[in-house]
Amino acid sequence: MSCLVEIKNLSFSYQDGRTALQELDLSICEGEKVGIVGSNGAGKSTLLLQLNGVLQGTGDVRIAGDQVCRQNLGRIRSLVGLVFQDPDDQLFSPTVFEDVAFGPLYMGLDESAVSLRVREALESVGMDGMEERVPNRMSLGEKKLVAIATVLAMRPRILALDEPTAALDARARRTILGVLKHLDETLVVATHDLSLVAEVLDRTIVMDRGEVVADGPTAEILRDEAFLAEHGLI
Ligand SMILES: Nc1ncnc2c1ncn2[C@@H]1O[C@H](COP(=O)(O)OP(=O)(O)OP(=O)(O)O)[C@@H](O)[C@H]1O
Ligand SMILES: [Mg+2]
Repeated sequence: MSCLVEIKNLSFSYQDGRTALQELDLSICEGEKVGIVGSNGAGKSTLLLQLNGVLQGTGDVRIAGDQVCRQNLGRIRSLVGLVFQDPDDQLFSPTVFEDVAFGPLYMGLDESAVSLRVREALESVGMDGMEERVPNRMSLGEKKLVAIATVLAMRPRILALDEPTAALDARARRTILGVLKHLDETLVVATHDLSLVAEVLDRTIVMDRGEVVADGPTAEILRDEAFLAEHGLI
């Protein structure tokens, strides 16, 4: 049986010609918790953006057997919830409630189901009571928590999070770690936070200059200090 995410020979260059991903092969099976680590510019965000078709390169990316391509984007995006590195890319509504409700409404849920989804999602990131706040007048950390809630509210099969703990204070970071630890969904997390990786994610992929340079059990990868130093991780 094939895995939930199947990537074969994926390469991607930005419009200015900069190659961000080079001949990448990767499989992620249902329920796996995977960390993607690598220094600035390694290609982590570019890779996550391929999972739900925000960017498309050459090669083959499949989610639950369906190729990520224009015709399948609706279905792909209901399967893959992506939390962007910058919450300003995610939040666009006049209130927190509307931002978190947007996905469930789009999925066709009725009003009471939408309200329940919003309440549960905000509670799980410790942001309940913030429904009427204006997202673009919140702190960066608060925005990141709301951005995570917008995706949780859609209950996707795969949650792809880009730097979920960057800019968060210790309490907010703990909240996020708690949320991630208790999720049953498949998780793909790009991060510089190696202690998050150690605590929450069983498998770690190391990227460098657009390539996967290691992929294995987190404990094994994090044990090799010389390798981590070589790739700018410590
Ligand atoms: N919009 C863009 N246009 C051109 N090049 C880009 C663009 N976004 C990223 N790149 C380049 O693509 C490469 C991979 O960038 P990417 O953002 O995927 O790295 P990253 O691993 O997420 O880094 P970080 O840890 O800083 O978030 C880098 O060389 C970067 O400069
Ligand atoms: Mg990034």
